[in-house]
Formats: sequence, C-alpha cells, structure tokens
Amino acid sequence: MQSAENPKKIIIAVDGFSSCGKSTFAKAIAARLGYIFIDTGAMYRAVTLYALDRGAISSGIVDEDAVTALLDELTIDFRFNPHRGASDIYVNGDLAENRIRTIEVSNCVSAVSAIPEVRRRLVAMQQRMGRRRGIVMDGRDIGTTVFPGAELKIFMTADPAVRAQRRYDELKAKGMEVSLSEIEENVRSRDHADMTRAVSPLRQADDAVVLDNSHMTVKEQMEWFTELFESRMAELQQ
Ligand code: DC
Repeated sequence: MQSAENPKKIIIAVDGFSSCGKSTFAKAIAARLGYIFIDTGAMYRAVTLYALDRGAISSGIVDEDAVTALLDELTIDFRFNPHRGASDIYVNGDLAENRIRTIEVSNCVSAVSAIPEVRRRLVAMQQRMGRRRGIVMDGRDIGTTVFPGAELKIFMTADPAVRAQRRYDELKAKGMEVSLSEIEENVRSRDHADMTRAVSPLRQADDAVVLDNSHMTVKEQMEWFTELFESRMAELQQ
C-alpha cells in the first residue's frame, strides 16, 4: 500500500487497551521517524467533553441523539505545541488538552465512542489525516477499521493493575485529586466496554504484532520497535 505521493513513508497503527502507554510509545516512534502522531482517543474525548459542556450528558447518562445532534457544530483540530514537542487538541478553537483527560471525561468516553455516528465522523476525519502518510496513529480500531491496509500494526497490552498505576501517576503529576481504586475500576470497565461494543470493538488485527509492555521501560520498547520497523521496511522493499 505504498502511495505515489509519498512512497517511502508508511502508516503505523498502534492499537490496544486503555492506559498501556500507547500515546507515549506512538509519540516517541513518530518523533524518531519524523512522522506525525495522531492520538485518536483524544478525538473521542473531545466529543465527550463537548457533550458534557453542552448538557448532552448529565449525571453520567449519555443522550445519544443529543450527542449526535451536536456533531455538526463541533470542530476538532490539532496544533503543534513546541513546548511539549507534541500536538494539543482544540475543540471549536479552544485549547482542550487538559480538560479531556479528567476522570469525568474518562467515565463517559466509552459510551460516547460507541455511538455509530460519532465513530463514522471521526473515522472519516482520521482517514483524511492519513492521506499524506508518514503517520503514527494510536487508538482502538486503527489497524482494523481506519487503516486496515496499514503497513505496520502494533497491538499494545499490559496488566490492568500496572496500567491503573501509570494513569494514577500521570494524573497526580498534573495535580489532579484521584483515587487509585477508582482508576483501576475505570480501566477495567473501559476494557470491557471497548471490547464488547457493537461498532468496531477493540480487537487485535490478524496481522498486528503484540507488544506487552507490563515490564518494559520506554527505552526497551523503542529498541523492540526499531528492530521491528527495520525488518518490516526491508520486507516492503522486496
Ligand atoms: O486512548 P484513550 O484512553 O484516550 O481513549 C479514550 C476512549 O476512546 C477509549 O475508552 C476508547 C475510545 N476510543 C475508541 O473507541 N476508538 C479509538 N480509535 C480511540 C479511542
């Protein structure tokens, strides 16, 4: 699936469970390769945040029709932030990078991401973003639905307790008041919801390579990736 527009650059799909370091890993490999990193979870979170702000979710109950009705007035874009060395997400022009990571958004995002029209719109947007190739896109359905022809697919997993601890440390470092047990519960319930939803459930693509990083440092993951990338590129050149 090499494109005439950009023959040497490929699409790398990074899928997997929540909080297993997909963004950290995907961001690092994009920086290493000079590719663009796209965090599709941030896009589902952005829709959720907007729905919360506009009253389409109240007391944790997601009104599917009300969320769907908001989609026409919602714009999402990414703008590179040189201080972070990564892109920040903007919702209708407002910076939303921190607000999309709250536990309130995390608790509702699986329900929002199960709405067929939400998925249809975001998948179309993601496919447009990938047209120029040279991208690393992380999510749940990138290798199965968004880019089934991606040249390299990685499926990430890690022990749920390790994942909960990582998300706890991340939120604490940002000064948020959170409880480890609440986060662990959220990690497990999102795993369940993501795997059992009707529209593009989380599943490993047949041609994905599994990365279980429960006991791996970021450096070890990068070494693992470098070897995989080189052998995949050699295969593609044959
Ligand atoms: O990666 P994350 O935890 O920030 O993702 C937030 C939620 O969005 C997650 O619970 C599942 C959903 N999601 C999805 O359904 N499809 C994607 N491609 C990315 C995320």
